[in-house]
Amino acid sequence: MDPVETLRAQHRALDMLLRAHLDAVIALDFAAALARLAIWQHAFALHLHTEDTTLIPALADVAAPRWVAHVYDAEHRHLEALMHDYTARFAGTVAVLPDGMTKRRNMALAIIDSAHVLRHVIDHHHQREEQALFLELPEAVLARAARAGGVEDGIADGD
Ligand SMILES: [Fe+2]
Ligand SMILES: [Fe+2]
Repeated sequence: MDPVETLRAQHRALDMLLRAHLDAVIALDFAAALARLAIWQHAFALHLHTEDTTLIPALADVAAPRWVAHVYDAEHRHLEALMHDYTARFAGTVAVLPDGMTKRRNMALAIIDSAHVLRHVIDHHHQREEQALFLELPEAVLARAARAGGVEDGIADGD
């Protein structure tokens, strides 16, 4: 597959992992939600690391990139902070489950609300990469990132 397509598919796969976590929240299966969140967190951290080490440094050789490396780097650090906030808050919330379905459903709604900002910022960042970064870098660099950043194993584990 063309490396840009592979990288786009990896973005979609990461979103599916986060959705799988939220599906478990909706089903009030908080143990599965916690396990799936760990799978997403691992895959997303690997994705950021791959881009940090393969794609973003290569921008230095692009003549006039739409956005400079610092923009992507700042977004990655912001995403890491949001990821850690969300996962810590989730673990704290589900550590002691309330009695009763109504309270648990309310808890699930609050969790889904708190995931909204995280998903929105990720989506915005992925669009920026797909509309600029991925189109500006040499194919060999993109191919290296595509090989390093596979998240398919994480999806298989999450099912
Ligand atoms: Fe990124
Ligand atoms: Fe990305």
